[in-house]
Order: sequence, then structure tokens, then C-alpha cells
Amino acid sequence: MSLAVDIAGLRLKHPVMNASGILGSYREHIARLASYGVSAVVTKTITPKPREGYNPPIIVELPTGGLLNAVGLENPGKDIVEELVSEAKKFRIPIIVSVGGRNEEEFVEVAVKADTSNADAVELNLSCPHAKGYGIEIGSDPHIVYNVVKAVSSTVKIPVIAKLGLCDKVVDSAIKALEAGARALTLINTVKAMYIDVYTAKPFLTNIFGGLSGPPIHPIAVRVVYEVYRETKAEIIGCGGIYDWATAAEMILAGARAVQVGTALMKNPREVVENIVKGLRLWIEMLSLQSIEQAVGLAHKL
Ligand SMILES: Cc1cc2nc3c(=O)[nH]c(=O)nc-3n(C[C@H](O)[C@H](O)[C@H](O)COP(=O)(O)O)c2cc1C
Repeated sequence: MSLAVDIAGLRLKHPVMNASGILGSYREHIARLASYGVSAVVTKTITPKPREGYNPPIIVELPTGGLLNAVGLENPGKDIVEELVSEAKKFRIPIIVSVGGRNEEEFVEVAVKADTSNADAVELNLSCPHAKGYGIEIGSDPHIVYNVVKAVSSTVKIPVIAKLGLCDKVVDSAIKALEAGARALTLINTVKAMYIDVYTAKPFLTNIFGGLSGPPIHPIAVRVVYEVYRETKAEIIGCGGIYDWATAAEMILAGARAVQVGTALMKNPREVVENIVKGLRLWIEMLSLQSIEQAVGLAHKL
């Protein structure tokens, strides 16, 4: 029985990686992520120049469940990429560089840096809901998605993964990303949301809006993965609210070949990854399947 999966041309020993933004900005983060037992590390989104991010408060745990953040894509800029990749090589763990930008040129600039540094793949962040000009404005316009993905995939040699978020045109954007050369899709990013402090009568985050993550967005993410898989049969990395083997298994049944865990890694990360991997193994055995890949998209066949 095998938990190994092929995604975007990478062979992973099991399907569980971290989601971008949960560590992954600095060299020492890579060692920590590797120690959690993930099968590949995904960096924080890197933009051409360093970004400072927003003033605090930038993150809050919500009384209704989940996390709301508006970090503002804080990152050290593209010069860090080589260090991050060489650190991952020390641990012999595949590294996917998350790339951010405001236009085609900026995406290409960072992706080229990842390529020349020998990263294993790039994940284009086309879906941040709170960094103006960088995220969901791009991902919700299928033509812009096409142009950005095409510009990157026709320039770099390494596989390109497009990360899309919740929007009305997510299926169209997914189709365009694949047409433009994306080898796989990551679905979804955080969902634009807000929280108002009833005692101060003000929005809690300085940015007013933030991205909701964690269990409240899981059923939305499963729906998006299911719809995009049904329409495209693409290779998909499911992301959103995964915290145990069952929430990961649901993504796989909807059509994901691999999964990313974000919010749940903030508490007991080693246990979380270990429990998901162990649970998936038992689940595959219970279904009498030979491999995790045989479970991909099974919910469409029943
Ligand atoms: C604090 C924080 C920072 C994040 N930063 C990024 C980022 O830099 N790039 C990105 O593509 N997604 C970022 N995300 C989104 C996650 O990668 C993921 O798509 C989202 O949180 C949903 O997964 P989860 O429910 O498992 O957290 C961030 C999420 C959080 C909570």
C-alpha cells in the first residue's frame, strides 16, 4: 500500500505539505517545516522586493472558529530564495517557492530566481484576498490568470502550480491556468472576511478585511476542488481547513492528489502531520485500495 503521489511532476512520499505563509520566509523556517514531517515545503509568498506587511493587529482567532489574518504578504524579497532552496536541499526535501507579484513581469522575476536556484516548482499566488493589487484581483480574472501563468511557464523550466482562491469564476480561471501551462492547481487560499470588535465598535484588523482560514472554510474548499476536478480532471492540491485525516481524505475524494495544511500547523504541527499521514494510511487500507492515488476523485464515481 503506497501513500506516494505524483503532483506537478514531483514524486512525494505522502500527500501532506504545509500551506504557504505558515513559516517559509527564512532559512531557519525550512528546517522547522522539514521536522514536521511534510513531504514538501512551500515557502511564504516571495515578491521581487521586500514587503513590510501591515501594522498590528494582523491576525485574530475568531469566536466563530478559524483565523482571520491580514499579514499583507510580508516577506524578505526574492534575494532570499537561493538560501531557502539550498536549506531544503540539505534536508533532501522538495521545495516549492510561492511567488507573488503585481503583474506578469514581477511574477516572472521571482519565478526565474526560483528556477535558477534549483527549486522543485513554483506556486503562483493568484489569490491573496487582502494584499491590494497582488492577489484575488488577478485570480478572479481568467484572462489575467492566463497571461501571468503563460508568462511564467514559457520562461522557467520547473513546474508551475497556480494557486487560486474563492471567486465566481474559479472554474474558468482554473481552465485558463491549465491552458497557459500550469501543471497543477492549489485550491483554495483564505476567504475575504471581517471581524468587528463589539466593545470598541471597530473592525478588529487594521486592514479592516482579512483572509479567513481553518475549519470554517473547509466545506467551501471541498466544493471548489470537486467542481474544478469535475470540469478539468486537473492535478489538484487541496487546501483549506484541513486538520485531520478525514478532512484531508474528503479533499482527496473530491479530486485532490495532495493537500496543504496551514492554520492547523500553528498548534502541535508534528502531531497534526503525523496523524493525517497515519490516518490516511488506515483509511486507504479500510477501503481496500492499493494506493492513495486510487482514491483521487472517488466521490465523482459513486
Ligand atoms: C497567517 C497566514 C499567512 C498566509 N500567507 C500566505 C501566503 O503568503 N501565500 C499564500 O499563498 N497563502 C497564504 N496563506 C493562506 C494559506 O496558504 C492557505 O491557503 C489558507 O490559510 C487555507 O488553509 P488553512 O485553512 O489550512 O489555513 C496564509 C494563511 C495564514 C493563516
